[in-house]
Amino acid sequence: ATTADAFRPALHYAPRNTWLNDPNGLIFHEGAYHLYYQNNPLDTVWGNMSWGHATSTDLLTWTEHAVAIACDAEEDIFSGSIVYDRHNTSGFGTDSAAPLVAVYTSAYKMASAYHGIQAQSLAYSLDGGYTWTKHPGNPVLNRASADFRDPKVFRYESDAGSYWVMVAVEASDFEVVFYKSHDLKDWELLSSFGPANATGGVWECPDLFPLPVDGDPDNLKWVLTVNLNPGGPNGGSAGQYFVGDFDGTTFTSATTVTSGLQDPDRLSEYQWLDWGRDYYAAVSFSDVPDGRRLMIGWMNNWQYANEIPTSPWRSPMSLVREVSLRSRDGSWRLVQQVAQEFTSVPAGKPPFTAGAGEIPEGTHLLDGAAGSVQRIEATFTPGTAEEFGLIVRGNGTQGTRIGIRPTERIIVVDRRESGQTDFHEAFASIDTAPIELAANSYALTIYVDQCSVEVFAQGGQVTLAELIFPSPTSTDVSLYAAGGTATINNLRITQYA
Ligand code: FRU
Repeated sequence: ATTADAFRPALHYAPRNTWLNDPNGLIFHEGAYHLYYQNNPLDTVWGNMSWGHATSTDLLTWTEHAVAIACDAEEDIFSGSIVYDRHNTSGFGTDSAAPLVAVYTSAYKMASAYHGIQAQSLAYSLDGGYTWTKHPGNPVLNRASADFRDPKVFRYESDAGSYWVMVAVEASDFEVVFYKSHDLKDWELLSSFGPANATGGVWECPDLFPLPVDGDPDNLKWVLTVNLNPGGPNGGSAGQYFVGDFDGTTFTSATTVTSGLQDPDRLSEYQWLDWGRDYYAAVSFSDVPDGRRLMIGWMNNWQYANEIPTSPWRSPMSLVREVSLRSRDGSWRLVQQVAQEFTSVPAGKPPFTAGAGEIPEGTHLLDGAAGSVQRIEATFTPGTAEEFGLIVRGNGTQGTRIGIRPTERIIVVDRRESGQTDFHEAFASIDTAPIELAANSYALTIYVDQCSVEVFAQGGQVTLAELIFPSPTSTDVSLYAAGGTATINNLRITQYA
């Protein structure tokens, strides 16, 4: 038995008392970030899919609002996106008010003539995103498919003209499909992409956006993100990405490793949005004013999503991440940081700091570093140890181990002894990601937040998001080295609570 709501995160969004999955309709509009999400308004397990809604002006604190778009007898409201239709191309607006238009998947139920089909539909809001009206002409795009879903729409602008582009999936064909429209109602097929790289599970929740390479605005590459379930690098749900070009019609990947159906041995060669078990259905915000590309993922995994031991809510979102693109050896890599707003979260206590020193073999409790809502920044230089790193949320027997194995060139997150794990057989795990030494060191930034750790390694080149369910009294932080020694160069722990 645990204290009521013991796992509620302090830095991550979680619904008050309902079920949440994918982020939907992420948009900055009239001074606020809007976060809609797959929501069961009536329960804490998946079902009655509707769009829940929360807003934030600073990406740190969120206000939950009434359900934005509710399911009805004929349809569930599956994932999708929102655009600000500033020129009222859809005609849903008035002379004085341009509409927000939501493009969502109608998952038709028994009572509908479209039963068994997933098709794309519209709803619009004239009050800045708080109340929504379904378009009477729904669905607007129907391929008579049972697995056509998760439309992400953006405005494509080029010298040849500008129009709306929709990126969606034929989930069980491992295919992303691209459509074009001038009014959000009539859609014309442009092209398709896939199967490629990871195809261990259905493709869901795609996104497509340009990013400057190494910060150079004259050198843009397009990033196509594709979530898949299962088939992630450490099991279950995860997101992969491709880097290439989009000419307004076709996406051409420059990072495809394997075309067609996946080679199961090559999973670690694909590019992953996150290597942890709990970062899924990630999509990006539209219209962020300073051009940043911000993403949020659902912090859970379909393997055990309905069983995690939180109450009276289920599933947090990830922290808000800024993504950027870095070139390397003729290829590109997505680099992720927690949005800069998080650096201004007020600390609850003075930070814990430690200078450079050797980590002797063994586990060493850091006196005065305990906490359950913290940001840990640490840099290590390898020595003779086979593995070294940190144990967080510890109590002597419990703990989550985050370590580097330099000779294997991997980072591990071991949550086998992290606390409650027996609610599902797939939960307890030791998860790994490839990692490379940089300037003779390994840098880790770790956000610990009640029921999770989010690890950003080597400046955000590798990330791992993982849920954990420790006892509220497991708050120890330790350094460890196994099979030899290592060096800690610096350590700073910001205490938020
Ligand atoms: C991904 C997903 C989407 C779908 C939604 C339904 O987690 O399966 O493909 O739109 O969840 O809740």
